[in-house]
Amino acid sequence: MYRFVECIDAGSDFCPCHLAEKGECIICSQLQNKVFCDCLYWKGTCIYQELLNNGNKAKKNREYKKFDIVSINKIRDDLHLYEVKLTNYLVRELDNFGAFVFIKRPQHPDYFGTPISIMDVDYEKSTVTMLIKIHGVKTKDIVECSENIMLKGPYWNGIQGQRFLRNLKDTNVLILGRGVAASPGVLATRRLKINGNNIKVMLDKGRSQENACTLYYKKYGADVENINIINYKTKNLTDDFVDKIDDLINKEEVPVILTAGDDDFNRLIINYIYKRNNKIYFASVNNHIMCCGEGVCGSCQIKLSGKYIRSCKQQYNPIEYYLMEDGNR
Ligand SMILES: Cc1cc2nc3c(=O)[nH]c(=O)nc-3n(C[C@H](O)[C@H](O)[C@H](O)COP(=O)(O)OP(=O)(O)OC[C@H]3O[C@@H](n4cnc5c(N)ncnc54)[C@H](O)[C@@H]3O)c2cc1C
Ligand code: FES
Repeated sequence: MYRFVECIDAGSDFCPCHLAEKGECIICSQLQNKVFCDCLYWKGTCIYQELLNNGNKAKKNREYKKFDIVSINKIRDDLHLYEVKLTNYLVRELDNFGAFVFIKRPQHPDYFGTPISIMDVDYEKSTVTMLIKIHGVKTKDIVECSENIMLKGPYWNGIQGQRFLRNLKDTNVLILGRGVAASPGVLATRRLKINGNNIKVMLDKGRSQENACTLYYKKYGADVENINIINYKTKNLTDDFVDKIDDLINKEEVPVILTAGDDDFNRLIINYIYKRNNKIYFASVNNHIMCCGEGVCGSCQIKLSGKYIRSCKQQYNPIEYYLMEDGNR
């Protein structure tokens, strides 16, 4: 009922990929070893034809390259802001909804590579800014980088449900965020503002006075409020937030909401709002554990409507993933 099938790399410089080469293309029926042509999502090029033209081989891979770190700002002991100088091509390609890169320390093996979202881009300086929260071995290793860093990209599947955001014009969009997961919402705000949209942002304060992304949202003209969204003891939405959100969705038309928190946060918010207004569409940040980012290793697999999908490549409708139909998901 909520299902759509879309590959984030279809029609890009990286399509066809290894999945197409092996008869596992997400989109093209002929490249799923079927005999008929039943393309699930047209992105302007025929993937089958592209594969034939490329000698039945996948297009080039993304590869790690070394880049200079321009600045590091330690916001908290466990929260670091990195600005890195890239090529103009990469900055342009990373200025898109859900853009992220894999980064690691120079000389370290590829299994140290960690997906990190692009929060902001600067065309004049040719830089990108990333907010990194130290979690475990990989992020601890990354924040030891002070002069240069290995970076691989561009990747774009950091936001699910992008089809609900891409073509919005002159409308209201609400972003609800928490922690470091709020950072891809900044770049989404930048993109949405280009099309004249009006962005309202509510950020969960968490342990701080305000979320570290606040100034970046304001930079792009969003109306930002830092409040308590979750009650950490009861693990429920706070009364303050419930009052505010009820008021907002009753009074104003909000066709799309981006939830930018961890899975528990996204699930709570989506279930609460959808049950009050099922006309609202949702986009959400992608929190699945990723390793290769290319649809090959399977570490990001999730089960949707009884089928496994690779969430690093495939777009899905956040409602399909988060909605608890009968309270047992
Ligand atoms: C598309 C994408 C974009 C991301 N963007 C950012 C970003 O901009 N900034 C940032 O700080 N982090 C981001 N992350 C999360 C980051 O990649 C993980 O925190 C990191 O890989 C953890 O590796 P580790 O070795 O440091 O910790 P691990 O030892 O792997 O994990 C430590 C703890 O963190 C949890 N964890 C691991 N991966 C994730 C994850 N993906 N989401 C939530 N919890 C996780 C584990 O369950 C464990 O409890 C992103 C993840 C994805 C998939
Ligand atoms: S991260 Fe390897 S398949 Fe998605």
